[in-house]
Formats: sequence, C-alpha cells, structure tokens
Amino acid sequence: MLQDEFLDGDLEANRAVLWTKRLSPIPRGHFGYLASYDSQPVGFAFAFGEHDAQWGTQVDNLHVLQDFRSKGIGSMLLASVAAQAVDTHGHLGVYLWVYEQNLAARKYYEGLGAVAVERAVITPPGGGKVSEWRYTWRSAAALLSALRRGA
Ligand SMILES: CC(C)(COP(=O)(O)OP(=O)(O)OC[C@H]1O[C@@H](n2cnc3c(N)ncnc32)[C@H](O)[C@@H]1OP(=O)(O)O)[C@@H](O)C(=O)NCCC(=O)NCCS
Repeated sequence: MLQDEFLDGDLEANRAVLWTKRLSPIPRGHFGYLASYDSQPVGFAFAFGEHDAQWGTQVDNLHVLQDFRSKGIGSMLLASVAAQAVDTHGHLGVYLWVYEQNLAARKYYEGLGAVAVERAVITPPGGGKVSEWRYTWRSAAALLSALRRGA
C-alpha cells in the first residue's frame, strides 16, 4: 500500500516529525491512548474529537504491534476512544479512513457494525496513489456497545 522507498527510508525520523508537531501542543479536542505491556508500548489510538459536522469524531490512528494482535488490545483502545467520544460529543458519530487493500482491518470494522459510505483516492505518506474507504458508526455509543458485545 505504501511505496518501497518510503518504507525503506528513515521511518522513525519521518514519524517523529509528524508526532512532535501533533503533540506540541495537542490541539483542543484531540486525544489518544497508549496500550503498554511490561512498560513497553504495544499499541495506540489517536482521535480528533468532533472533527466532522456530518460524521463526528475521527479515529486517525489505531495500531497494535503484530505480535500483540488478536488479543483484544485494538478493541480496548477503540473502546477508550468511543467512551471519550460518548462523554464529550455523544450526539455525534465516529468514523475513520481505511486503505481499500487493508482487508483485515476492514473486516474487523465491519464486524463492529461500521458502514463504508465513501471511497477516496489519496496520496499516502511517501507518495503514490491509494484508495481508501470512510467507515462510519452512527454514534459513539453504537460503537461502544458493539465493542462490549464482542468482548
Ligand atoms: C486493526 C487492529 C488495530 C486490530 O487490533 P487487534 O488488537 O488485533 O484487535 P482485537 O484483538 O481487539 O480484535 C481483532 C480480532 O481478534 C479477536 N479477539 C479479540 N480478543 C481476542 C482474544 N483474547 N483471543 C482471540 N481473539 C481475540 C476479535 O474478535 C477480532 O476478531 P475479528 O477480526 O474476527 O472480529 C490491528 O490488527 C492492527 O494494528 N493492524 C495493523 C494496523 C492497521 O491496519 N490499523 C488500522 C488502520 S485504519
């Protein structure tokens, strides 16, 4: 999905620039959660509260280290985001963009009741073109209860 030259480059420096900018300071309404195991980070989620008037809070990042997947960590992170969205923007939905080729993540979101409403072609980090889908939940509470049902 991402170009070889980008993935072979200095990803750590690239991401450090992005996250330093994002977190200093954190804009109002932006929030995130870090999952750790044995004091080591194993996953994180980051969201923009009330980001879109129609679709609500955007989950911009949800990542779990490969060896820690399918243990409920992603769902725990997403539930934390959903619970915060319920508390702060309960009248709005939740959405995210996922690469079309990311079939595992799409299956995971569909299992949680997300509805794909829109396809876009974008330039991902590192260049090139990639298709992605907007997955939506009509409310943060609907996402939270789907996560609780699956727990
Ligand atoms: C998508 C992603 C965040 C999900 O995180 P995760 O920690 O694997 O998610 P969970 O463990 O909560 O759930 C994943 C699956 O494991 C199952 N599961 C949860 N707890 C489990 C457990 N204790 N034992 C076995 N299976 C379990 C869930 O039911 C779910 O199954 P499903 O996909 O068939 O519905 C993770 O796979 C990831 O980081 N992927 C790469 C990055 C990525 O694509 N991010 C999304 C960008 S939009």
